[in-house]
Amino acid sequence: APAELRYDGQTVVVTGAGGGLGREYAIFFGSRGANVVVNDLGGSFKGEGAGSAAADKVVNEIRAAGGKAVANYDSVENGEAIIKTAIDNFGRIDVLINNAGILRDVSFKNMKQADWDLIYKVHVKGAFKCARAAWPYFRKQKYGRLISTASAAGLFGSFGQTNYSAAKLALVGFTETLAKEGFKYNILCNVIAPIAASRMTETVMPPDVLEKLKPEWIVPLVAVLTHKSNTETGAIFEAGGGHIARLRWERSKGALFKPDDSFTPGAVAAKWKQIVDFTDAEHPEGPIDALGVLEAATQQAPSPKTEQPNFKGKVVLV
Ligand code: NAI
Repeated sequence: APAELRYDGQTVVVTGAGGGLGREYAIFFGSRGANVVVNDLGGSFKGEGAGSAAADKVVNEIRAAGGKAVANYDSVENGEAIIKTAIDNFGRIDVLINNAGILRDVSFKNMKQADWDLIYKVHVKGAFKCARAAWPYFRKQKYGRLISTASAAGLFGSFGQTNYSAAKLALVGFTETLAKEGFKYNILCNVIAPIAASRMTETVMPPDVLEKLKPEWIVPLVAVLTHKSNTETGAIFEAGGGHIARLRWERSKGALFKPDDSFTPGAVAAKWKQIVDFTDAEHPEGPIDALGVLEAATQQAPSPKTEQPNFKGKVVLV
């Protein structure tokens, strides 16, 4: 059998751990030797209300099974208070799982400013505040494991979720940059896009589908990414229904234009098929080397013919 991953002596903060996926993570870490901070604001899935019962229940479960856990009832918008709970009770923080989340689904036509702002505050500002509070400890001890929770909605778009999609993809950029900044301090940062049955999905998916999307099936991926043996960083993973896969960017080979007056909209339109063709694509870990590209373009032979733009959509070759 494969070795059991353990987290003895480490402190794990799970935000939004009073229910759903966060609860599964917290219970797992509690059963594998970690000190767990069970954070939950205790409101509704739309972000209304607050209470201590959700976090308390999970803490009691962990303790009843012989694990170590404390509750924190702050909103992730007060990330310092959540990390302070870890430091005050356990003297350290090793793992941060940005998991707390809410939904405010509404078509873009009907979206109110408040729907946009609240989603941003919980997902993006919340993840920022928690990570920023944990970061000095991670750096000082030259160890940290951070997970942010994105969503298929952010990666692919999803009807009625402009607010949520924007926030979820923001967490990808946020985490990719943290991965770069944290690397030399052994702070590894990854993104997960889970799909699982929870109060968040029970209204949008049928029961027979939800049955096959158990929230505990997201735990093994989170466990591996937060373990000291992990070396993966700056990656995006999808997980759900027992399937785990990595996602990455793909860049088409594209077209190279000579940076002179032949580089017109018409010239671009003429090469459109080549620009969007993913044959021989690459999988970049960073942006285009703009200077390298420029040099390659300048070394090209002059274009044999000049393409004149025709703004009605046709390309006229002259
Ligand atoms: P859930 O609603 O069961 O759990 C979210 C928890 O976060 C709740 O216990 C809630 O009280 C807590 N929370 C909400 N706002 C908070 C705040 N300001 N501060 C602290 N805690 C707060 O939902 P679920 O499904 O477990 O979601 C967990 C994460 O996974 C979320 O970030 C969600 O957006 C994400 N996700 C879930 C998917 C799914 O299929 N269940 C799909 C894609 C992403």
